[in-house]
Amino acid sequence: MLKIAVVGATGMVGQEMLMVMDEFQLPYDELILAASAGSAGKKLSYKGKDHNLVTVEEAIRMKPDIALFSAGGSTSLEYAPAFAAAGCYVIDNSSAWRMDSDCPLVVPEINADRITQTSRIIANPNCSTIQMVMALHPLHRKFGVDRIVVSTYQSFTGTGMKAVRQYEAEKNGHPAPEPRAYNHPIFENCIPQCDVFLDNLYTKEEMKLVHETRKILGDPSLRITATAVRVPVYGGHSESVNVSFHKAFRLEEVRQLLSAAPGLILLDEPSRSRYPTPLQARGKNEVQVGRLRMDESQENALNLWIVADNLRKGAATNAVQIASYLLEKAYVKN
Ligand code: A2P
Repeated sequence: MLKIAVVGATGMVGQEMLMVMDEFQLPYDELILAASAGSAGKKLSYKGKDHNLVTVEEAIRMKPDIALFSAGGSTSLEYAPAFAAAGCYVIDNSSAWRMDSDCPLVVPEINADRITQTSRIIANPNCSTIQMVMALHPLHRKFGVDRIVVSTYQSFTGTGMKAVRQYEAEKNGHPAPEPRAYNHPIFENCIPQCDVFLDNLYTKEEMKLVHETRKILGDPSLRITATAVRVPVYGGHSESVNVSFHKAFRLEEVRQLLSAAPGLILLDEPSRSRYPTPLQARGKNEVQVGRLRMDESQENALNLWIVADNLRKGAATNAVQIASYLLEKAYVKN
C-alpha cells in the first residue's frame, strides 16, 4: 500500500501539487489530505471524489510513505521530524529545512543524486531560487559562475491565499480583508519587499536566493546579490539576471547549452518580440529563458531574463519530481 500525504492540501501550492500529481500520474493507493485544524473534517474534492481533510496529527497516525508539505515553515518545523520518525519521506516546500546540512536541497535536474535512502526530510528550494539555478546550472558547469546580480518580479500568488484575496479585493475596489498579505496595496503596485527585513537590510527572500543558490551550485564562495520585488501578476515569477563567469564564452554556446538543458525552454527571438512572460508561463512546468545578451560593460558577463510559474516548477512540480525520483529509485516501494 503506497500512501501519499499532502500537508496544506487546501493552499495555493497544495492545490497545485494535487494537479501536478494527477498530470504526472504519480501512483498511490491511498491519498491523505491534511490541512489546519479549522479545515479538518471538511471535504475536498479531487478527481471527482470527495476526500476527508484530516489534521496533521491524524496524517502522521495514517503512516504515509511520502508527505508533500506546503503548510508554512512552522508546521514543517514542528511536524516533519514526526513524519520522518514514522518512516515517511518528507518533501518540504517551506524554508524550514533548506539550510540544514542533513537535508538535501534538491532541484532534480541538477542534484537529485544528493537524495539517499536515508534522506528523510528533503527540502524544495525557494521558488525564485529554483528557476534561477535551472537556467544558470548548465552555464555554471561550463564557464563557472563568479557573480550574480538578480532582480525579481514575483507573483503575489507566492504569498498564498491571503495575497490572492488582497489582490482580488483591491482590484474590485474593496478594502483588503484582514489579515492582509502586504502592508501596501498590491493591485497596480510593485512592492520592493518579499518577506521580512533582516539585520543586513536585505529581505529574507533576497537572502534565500543567496544561501540556497550557493548550496545547490555547491560553491559557498559564490558572489551573489539580490533585490526581490512583489508584482501584481498571476502567472509566475520573472527575474532579470546579470551573471559574470570565470571563463570567456560566446553567446552561441550559451544558446546551445540552454537549448539542451532538461526542463528549460529557450524563447529568444527579439526581432519577433519573442521572450518569456509570466502570463504565457502560467500552468507550465518548464522554466523559460530569453533576452540573452552580452553585458557590454564588463568581461565574461551575460544578461538574461528567466520566467517560471512559481506554483509549478517553483514549488509543486519540483516537489512531485522529487517524489517520482524516490519511487524510481525504489527508496519508496510502489
Ligand atoms: P487551511 O486551509 O486549513 O488554513 P496558503 O499558503 O495558500 O494560504 O496555504 C496554506 C496551507 O497550509 C493551507 O492548506 C492551510 O490549511 C495549511 N495550514 C496552515 N496552517 C496550518 C497548520 N497549523 N497545520 C496544518 N496545516 C496548516
